Amino acid sequence: MAVQRGRLPRSGAALAAAARLRLTPDEAALEARVTALRHRLAADTRELRIVDYGAGTRGLVTTEARPPVRRVAEVYRRAAATPGWGRFLFLLTRALKPLRVLELGTNLGVSAAHVALALEPGARLVSIEGDPGLAALARGHLAEAGVAERVEVVEGRFADRLPDVLDAHGPFDLVFIDGHHEAEATRRYWEMIAPHLAGGACVLFDDVEPGRPVRRAWRAIAEAATVAGVEAADLLGLGVLTLPAAPPISRLPGARDPFRASESLPAERSPAAAVQ
Ligand SMILES: C[S@@+](CC[C@H](N)C(=O)[O-])C[C@H]1O[C@@H](n2cnc3c(N)ncnc32)[C@H](O)[C@@H]1O
Repeated sequence: MAVQRGRLPRSGAALAAAARLRLTPDEAALEARVTALRHRLAADTRELRIVDYGAGTRGLVTTEARPPVRRVAEVYRRAAATPGWGRFLFLLTRALKPLRVLELGTNLGVSAAHVALALEPGARLVSIEGDPGLAALARGHLAEAGVAERVEVVEGRFADRLPDVLDAHGPFDLVFIDGHHEAEATRRYWEMIAPHLAGGACVLFDDVEPGRPVRRAWRAIAEAATVAGVEAADLLGLGVLTLPAAPPISRLPGARDPFRASESLPAERSPAAAVQ
């Protein structure tokens, strides 16, 4: 894995360290917990009915009234971060040392486990999942990995739950957008999240490789954010934004004026209603 083009962003050292995918023996021992979880999930024949709260997850979920049955093993195989990307997320989190992390799309809790195992004492991950069955399973998996006290799995649609999560747990240092990969929805989620980012924050947009519809949104977001001093990098299908140490928050797209936050708060929430 390598940064494809352009200069390395401010998070470049952390990204480069993560992309080497090398673990110390202590880190390998932590990763072994997720590997054990992965083995169980790959053989799990329990059945789930997954409701679609977004555009679907690589064809896995549906908006039908009676969604088809999927086995846990199939959900794991099709939706969870691969071992390589899981290790990358672990190492990136280790390098960035975020205090608050936000994930959109918990699924079975695999990427959340990788990230949570990398957190420093006192740091927390909040992860949002729309499907109640998946959210319940994820909580169990995170407990199995020994990180339940570092992670809060919030159940509900991103658009419904984001306002409260952002107000209660922000500002965030690291954000992983890994669900509802539609262009317009992604743009709206970014607009909601941007005012709640800490200085130097890193925002990861999954599945933005060429040919995906969300790529258009990613390019527009990256272009507009760059004007506000945010740095953007393409990392083999992962879009990475890195904020300046002291972000000019009011200049980020969709951001509210930090000096008028209380007055503008209700108005800022209204566009979210249109997002599924
Ligand atoms: C690709 S999976 C996440 C994988 C997980 N981050 C991992 O790597 O282990 C995306 C998840 O987002 C959830 N999702 C999609 N759209 C959503 C929405 N609008 N609100 C809430 N959850 C949503 C899906 O149910 C699915 O479980």
